[in-house]
Amino acid sequence: MDAAPTDSSPQPLMMALRAHERGGPERLVYEEAPRPVPGPDEIRVAVRAAAITFAELSWPETWEGDGVDRTPIIPSHEFAGVVAEIGSGVVDLSVGDSVFGIVPFNRDGAAAEFVVVPSACVARKKPRDSDVVAAAAVLPALTAWEALGDQAHVAAGQHVLIRGGTGAVGAFLTQFAHELGAEVTVTVTSESSVARARNLGADHVVVSAPHSEAPDLSAFDVALDAVGDDVPEWLYAAVRPGGQLVVLQVPPRQELAEKYGITTIFFVVRTRRDRLEQLAALIAAGHVEVAIAQTFPLSAGRAAYESGSVPKPAPGKTVILVP
Ligand SMILES: NC(=O)c1ccc[n+]([C@@H]2O[C@H](COP(=O)([O-])OP(=O)(O)OC[C@H]3O[C@@H](n4cnc5c(N)ncnc54)[C@H](OP(=O)(O)O)[C@@H]3O)[C@@H](O)[C@H]2O)c1
Repeated sequence: MDAAPTDSSPQPLMMALRAHERGGPERLVYEEAPRPVPGPDEIRVAVRAAAITFAELSWPETWEGDGVDRTPIIPSHEFAGVVAEIGSGVVDLSVGDSVFGIVPFNRDGAAAEFVVVPSACVARKKPRDSDVVAAAAVLPALTAWEALGDQAHVAAGQHVLIRGGTGAVGAFLTQFAHELGAEVTVTVTSESSVARARNLGADHVVVSAPHSEAPDLSAFDVALDAVGDDVPEWLYAAVRPGGQLVVLQVPPRQELAEKYGITTIFFVVRTRRDRLEQLAALIAAGHVEVAIAQTFPLSAGRAAYESGSVPKPAPGKTVILVP
């Protein structure tokens, strides 16, 4: 553990990716920033890998905390690393532990050499297990578990439709819905994703290119949108009356819910230590299928975010590596 700075010593610095004004990737700069200090029940983690959800730069929480502008902000809230310092009251983690987790979205993220996070938002992982895989899996896996389990209560035998079944969250929705015993139908945007969707556990795969005609799908018990843009009306219509539609990016349109007689759900994922431990066990057992599209060094973090608006060389998560 490093010695705490005295009043007269300068605050230690670290390298970080920051945005000083709201906007997209063009606002991100790689620069020196104050090294954060853990408060009570918090830990400081030396980041090894920080994964990107591209939509995060559009989330209000990224820029505001309790309605107050937070700039300059550090993005990327999905991470793996090593505990570097523990705050008072933390009894279940030690310096040197290999951990992974999710930073609350209204705090500075992990695209930096260090991140401070509530200790309840991380779990230990085996040091030998990949930091990249842990960082890439953590948000999509916890989101998919919460969507299928706590929110929609999907049960064996139900007919489940996943729009975008091979994206980061979509791939976990497909795997977990299959494991729950549901009959799983997914949409993908191109023929090249069909085999991957089947490998993830989809029983039926429908190719539905962006801006193409609405696919002919109906009578699902539960539909989930894992794309995140404006949810199309056909997804509401694909749910049977009395069924449920789960959306992840923007609150659902109530008039469409009423038109089709369905229940709609929007939620923001909660970090749960038990789920993180469950995921760590799955990773250790080699049971997590997570695709990595690209990795970038922290110094090229802006390019990592810019890569979200061009076709990826491969499907999967984009991950920033911190040396
Ligand atoms: N509420 C929460 O707590 C929470 C948590 C995590 C994520 N999210 C949200 O969940 C959404 C998905 O995140 P993600 O990280 O999984 O994104 P992602 O990896 O980029 O996946 C997006 C998926 O959408 C598909 N897609 C893209 N454009 C499409 C279009 N025009 N029509 C049909 N399909 C299209 C992609 O298919 P191709 O790859 O074939 O193009 C891919 O399967 C985002 O909006 C994110 O903000 C919410």
